[in-house]
Amino acid sequence: MAEKTLETLFHDTLRDIYFAERKILKALPKMARGAQSPDLKAAFEKHKEQTEGQIERLQRVFEIIGKPARGKTCDAIEGILAEGDEILEDYKDTAALDAGLIASAQAVEHYEITRYGTLKRWATVLGMADAAALLDATLTEESDTDESLTALADASVNAKAMTPKK
Ligand SMILES: [Fe+2]
Ligand SMILES: [Fe+2]
Repeated sequence: MAEKTLETLFHDTLRDIYFAERKILKALPKMARGAQSPDLKAAFEKHKEQTEGQIERLQRVFEIIGKPARGKTCDAIEGILAEGDEILEDYKDTAALDAGLIASAQAVEHYEITRYGTLKRWATVLGMADAAALLDATLTEESDTDESLTALADASVNAKAMTPKK
């Protein structure tokens, strides 16, 4: 078996998050359509735009390491997104839907934060400052998204979820 090093791990993990981002890009419009609060809808739409840019950043990182941009199935994101679909179905037309959608979206953000945090560290120790900067830019967007979802939940969504619709 070929020797595996931190470079191997970096490449594999890059493929994992590349797969995940493209799945997330497809899931966000569905979440935006499902959201009841206009602010939450807007937050999902904004993050969809950001996700397009994040995918481009990943493609640039693939270029830096001289590998084709190719994803690798990420079971974790498939599971997290499947749970989000369950919320959309099980809480359809209920007061708690938006609070559930925020929780699902934050699970996605936290998955991304762990991946980008690791990749950024590895890029740094591997001496790839440009890649580290690209990964850091996305890490900041994911953290900001997570925080604005918490703010939305605190400002209105959780309170609304406590009052039955009918
Ligand atoms: Fe992302
Ligand atoms: Fe994200």
